[in-house]
Amino acid sequence: MEKEFPLVLAPLAGWSDAPFRRLCREFGADIVYTEMVSADGAIRQQHKTLALAQFTASERPIVIQVFGAEPETVAGAIEIITAMRPDAIDLNFGCPARKVVRRGSGSALLRDLPLLQKIARAAVRATDIAITAKLRSGWDADSIVVLEAAERLQDIGVQMLAIHPRTQTQQFRGFADWSLIRRVKEAVSIPVIGNGDVKTAWDAKKMFDETGCDGVMIGRAACGRPWIFQQVRLFLDSGQEPSSPAFAEQIAVCLRHLALNVAAYGEKQGVRMMKKQIALYLRGFAHASAIRQKILALEAHSDIREFLSELPNLHS
Ligand SMILES: Cc1cc2nc3c(=O)[nH]c(=O)nc-3n(C[C@H](O)[C@H](O)[C@H](O)COP(=O)(O)O)c2cc1C
Repeated sequence: MEKEFPLVLAPLAGWSDAPFRRLCREFGADIVYTEMVSADGAIRQQHKTLALAQFTASERPIVIQVFGAEPETVAGAIEIITAMRPDAIDLNFGCPARKVVRRGSGSALLRDLPLLQKIARAAVRATDIAITAKLRSGWDADSIVVLEAAERLQDIGVQMLAIHPRTQTQQFRGFADWSLIRRVKEAVSIPVIGNGDVKTAWDAKKMFDETGCDGVMIGRAACGRPWIFQQVRLFLDSGQEPSSPAFAEQIAVCLRHLALNVAAYGEKQGVRMMKKQIALYLRGFAHASAIRQKILALEAHSDIREFLSELPNLHS
């Protein structure tokens, strides 16, 4: 976690799994987060839940993210996760999804800062591994609590914050209010990672310039474009204008991603899980929807590989 101005892959349920995290590390992501892991599921030793927390050495530094609504449950989950020795364990204080909020976790905790504080304190006490937290700005526009929450978390011993300055009610609409990242950065001395709407290398530089954040976290823009980390790093280091990889290179990355998926999950599941990822790699290219339809009908790794390998010839 030492790198100056780290570029961070955001936790993305359904997307930031082990193969994708590894690929993003290969393209220069300095820190990667797992998908959110349910504290309830973890303490019940649910196989599916614990599988989300599994990682390989090639993904390090890795942060395992946990969500839960009760201090004891979160502490219990953190004890289990501590045995996996991730580089940090993150508390999810931002997820706006109804099924998470209904149970009082994720961004619901922004409506109850004393409980959020108790959860964070229990987490810090439960482990020798660094505890970090990821926050939205508040529940709605009338209750922006991120500054107060950040200060309380720092006092408890949380070691890094990632700020996605949208409210719960905003979901993913509108824009992230980057001025709140700057205000959090000014209010605390622990590292503050900025997040929200970074789609290009220029956006990353702009976020840094406007907020003074200690690192940038990228979520949606990395899906189907894991090379964005390389582009951001190049731009930050040299000011060199990043170009997009040629179509043939993009397909080569997609094929590598497919191979990592098949290695991690086996052919049937690996291919099935990869189809939504392939759709994003193809986004914006001519005949993308017709190509997607064809891929949906393929099941064998070798058939998809062959089909994708031919595409650059058709596009040249
Ligand atoms: C499909 C999807 C899944 C997400 N899953 C999580 C999650 O598990 N934990 C979390 O803290 N945030 C999650 N987020 C929020 C992202 O980490 C990030 O904060 C948000 O997408 C804004 O960053 P971006 O504009 O770079 O995508 C998710 C977002 C999306 C779109």
